Amino acid sequence: MSPPRARFSDAEIRMYGLLNRAVRDLVVANFGESTWDKIRARAGLAESRFQAMEQYPDSVTYELVGALCEETGMTADQALEAFGEYWIQYTGAEGYEHLLEASGDTLPEFLNNLNDLHTRVALIFTHLSPPSFLVSDETEQSLVLHYFSHREGLGPVMVGLLRGLGARFNVDVVVEREVMQRTDDNRVHETFRVAWNGA
Ligand code: HEM
Repeated sequence: MSPPRARFSDAEIRMYGLLNRAVRDLVVANFGESTWDKIRARAGLAESRFQAMEQYPDSVTYELVGALCEETGMTADQALEAFGEYWIQYTGAEGYEHLLEASGDTLPEFLNNLNDLHTRVALIFTHLSPPSFLVSDETEQSLVLHYFSHREGLGPVMVGLLRGLGARFNVDVVVEREVMQRTDDNRVHETFRVAWNGA
């Protein structure tokens, strides 16, 4: 799969720098500072660091991911999944652990609270354009998570996030990415069948 840069050029939606900071951290931890410098040069970024509370056009993030793929040889899916998995520990370490804790003690409880979590996040990041979620088909050890977003192409991030949550709750998680469709107001609607066992 080719890097996502060409598909994503919606400069109107803006993303908080916290996400770009996490991309930087992930790159530096795995590939070192010099690879980060090459990636940001390739993405055309003059500054090495992002401000967590500042908003940047989504295209900056997509450019970064595209440059990361070109520089490291990762596919877009691999990079986005790795980012999603990392996001759970990153937000915990960056001062938002209380928000994660307030969202539930088990994986299914947590997944049922994802909208509330982002509502709380929006009290801090007041211009947030958050995704929204719905749970269906719930059984003892599985459910279907519906993900709605104004943004394109972030389904693989959800796969990584769900794996990261599996690790957080110490359960083995199997994630199947199912269908991608559009809502009437043209948002992305993706479904993920999530099954778990263990704790
Ligand atoms: C304390 C933990 C979390 C914080 C602080 C947080 C914060 C954020 C922020 C700042 C954004 C960028 C949106 C924007 O700037 O407009 C975002 C986007 C996103 N978040 Fe969260 N988040 C957290 C946990 C989660 C979890 C647990 C999930 C799902 C399992 C999740 C799923 C997403 C997705 C998929 C996006 C991409 C935006 C989109 O699809 O439109 N987040 N989050």
